Amino acid sequence: MSIFKDDILIGKVAVITGGGGDICKEIATVFSAHGARVVITSRSQERLDIAAAQINDATGGEALAIAADVRNYEELQAVVARTVEEFGGIDILINGAAGNFPAPIAALSPKGFRTVIEIDLEGTYNMTRACFDELKKAGADHGNASIVNITATLQYVGTPFQAHVNAAKAGIDALTRTVANEWGALNIRCNGVAPGPIDDTEGMRRLSPSAESRQKYMNTIPLGRYGTKREISDACLFLVSDASRYTTGAILVVDGGSWLYSPGLGPNASI
Ligand code: NAP
Ligand code: COA
Repeated sequence: MSIFKDDILIGKVAVITGGGGDICKEIATVFSAHGARVVITSRSQERLDIAAAQINDATGGEALAIAADVRNYEELQAVVARTVEEFGGIDILINGAAGNFPAPIAALSPKGFRTVIEIDLEGTYNMTRACFDELKKAGADHGNASIVNITATLQYVGTPFQAHVNAAKAGIDALTRTVANEWGALNIRCNGVAPGPIDDTEGMRRLSPSAESRQKYMNTIPLGRYGTKREISDACLFLVSDASRYTTGAILVVDGGSWLYSPGLGPNASI
């Protein structure tokens, strides 16, 4: 069930990096269910092929799976070229590819730090740049080309053991606003979606692996639960739809109030 009409993305082509992963596969499924033709891309072709088959089974769509590493600009240019060949252009880009592992700064090598910057921040830049010509054509054609960068809220408070991720996601947020400024005149909007803890995802399996740490985390969330992949996908759907045509440079936090947690007066404190 969707609160959006099921044809709102008909005629649109969406490219989704990290599309073989948990959250981004759901975004691709929701977009496909609303009429978009979707291209999913991440490194493992095998994982992508399974994801594309699942998306098509669920929606009757024609998802295309093209492997690429977001650190490799030429591979991304090939994704763009193949998308244009198969589907005729690109209207929507979701930058969701990311890497994460918890590590204290003292145990994080320069290469470990750099790797996450390269995947998250440079990868977002690389794919944004690679899609520019096609997004520009879409903006001129129908006035609503759109980019959504999947960011986080961890960086707002300097979350420990996440120096690499915090720096990368803060950079992505800066890039989101800059692209919004530079490309607004071309009718290319650029927004962010900042998930909090999302259930049944690789991100949370890495950051909160035990039942105990999960419960501890849960107790700090004002809405008292983890979010769902669907809730992130619906936020993305809103941001690429005509309903948000005047919104650009925004970062929509979808985290149950998680980052607002205040240890002194948190949701479980009593006065
Ligand atoms: P996930 O399932 O691990 O998805 C990450 C995706 O990125 C995978 O498809 C992975 O596929 C791809 N990827 C990794 N390195 C890549 C590279 N170098 N080139 C291309 N693709 C690459 O993780 P998730 O939990 O769904 O997270 C999705 C997004 O949400 C990320 O941007 C994450 O930062 C954000 N987020 C998640 C949460 C959460 O609670 N899960 C919270 C805040 C933000 P391959 O390994 O096959 O390349
Ligand atoms: N603690 C400290 N350093 C770590 C680490 C950990 N748990 N895991 C990886 N690293 C370091 C490695 O040690 C290496 O640096 P070094 O050679 O100086 O030791 C560096 O990170 C690169 O690791 P490598 O495995 O070569 O990189 P990769 O490109 O193959 O993989 C990762 C990238 C590390 C981010 C990997 O976890 C990944 O592919 N993740 C994708 C899925 C994911 O993270 N999902 C969650 C998204 S929110």
